[in-house]
Amino acid sequence: MLSGKNILIGITGGIAAYKICELIRMFKRYNANVRVICTPNAMNFVTKLTLQNLSQNEVGIEEFEIPDYKPEHISYADEADIMVIAPVTANTIGKIANGLCDNLLTSVVSAFKKPVIIAPAMNCNMWENGIIQENIEKLRKFGYEIVDPESGFLACGSEGTGRLCSLEKIFDRTVEILNSKKKLLNKKIVITAGGTIENIDPVRYISNYSSGKMGIALADIASSQGAEVVLISTVDVSRGYKVVKVKSALEMQEAVENEFDTADCVIMAAAVADYRVKNIACQKMKKTSENEITIDLIKNPDILKEISEKKTSQIVVGFCAESENLIENAKEKIVKKGCDYLIANDISRKDIGFSSDFNEVTILSKNGEMKKLERADKRQIAKQIFEVIYGQKCDCTDNREFCTSKSC
Ligand code: CTP
Repeated sequence: MLSGKNILIGITGGIAAYKICELIRMFKRYNANVRVICTPNAMNFVTKLTLQNLSQNEVGIEEFEIPDYKPEHISYADEADIMVIAPVTANTIGKIANGLCDNLLTSVVSAFKKPVIIAPAMNCNMWENGIIQENIEKLRKFGYEIVDPESGFLACGSEGTGRLCSLEKIFDRTVEILNSKKKLLNKKIVITAGGTIENIDPVRYISNYSSGKMGIALADIASSQGAEVVLISTVDVSRGYKVVKVKSALEMQEAVENEFDTADCVIMAAAVADYRVKNIACQKMKKTSENEITIDLIKNPDILKEISEKKTSQIVVGFCAESENLIENAKEKIVKKGCDYLIANDISRKDIGFSSDFNEVTILSKNGEMKKLERADKRQIAKQIFEVIYGQKCDCTDNREFCTSKSC
């Protein structure tokens, strides 16, 4: 199962370090080549000799220890297919999250461009600490795979969440990542996210409730599946892929046009304002004696329609936010916009859509097919959307794009 795979295990100074001896054996049993690096503190819990014997490789602890033509941390990072850091202490989490490289392990992880699994283990109060949670969130955002700790009886005598998750979980996740095909490798995917902001004057604007979560989830999933991602967003996002921050529909249009020719797929998940203010005031508008005022609006360009008209090989995907007659309106909209797929969601529901972490959508294709994706976390929905766009046609119904049969 793991023949030819190079797994780099990082161990930090927590009591669960002793469990990693068994994890090394599990990987070796399936023929992986395992190398181990430890922080100096990890040596309080396991011995170098044990790890060396189990991994059948030299164990790295100190930087600048093994003479090589390449700096050691770069050799380790280049050689491995995946890095598994377990257990990870709060201290090392903080260092990685802030780009500190003060020992071999933290230097290697900062130079590591392939998947990194992080399995934290610590006291429950430490795990619940807001600062540590913020660091974990930051790691997640940058694409680190966090295998959350479990709850139970802890080595310090407390009861709560903080115990290293089961070795089987770490093992399974590692195998899954190593064997997963990067389905979107060599594809450039451009995604828009958030609601556009149309200025009225220097202090006021017209916008909408879009949180950008669906677009960001699509970008995260595309990036994790190997795509070159460009996220054009009205909300602040810091990720490992390219993010272009925009405000108005006109800025979004320009950013999309800049990326369009070289894109393989464009997904318009943003809620673009249909109208903008005709004359944006240079100074703050003052209150007048009138009870009513009128602000003239003019139509914004329809970005989705425009790119659908000029597309060559690109796959163009739109979203369709409706508060009533979802499918009926979506069917009309896909024809009007001319895109390849339209993802329809009902924004009247509180448990999905705008601002929620969940969504439930129906995907329509230009060939008239439909597939409903049941309510799920936006990342799960994003995964399924890519499966439809780049995925498997179904065998059971004459190679149709979407299979509606429950039996397959
Ligand atoms: N869209 C766009 N440019 C606009 C308006 C919308 O590119 N000026 C895109 C959105 O990003 C989305 C799709 O068009 O992918 C549908 O957006 P939606 O708001 O549902 O539809 P509208 O075209 O705005 O039509 P209506 O407001 O009448 O429903």
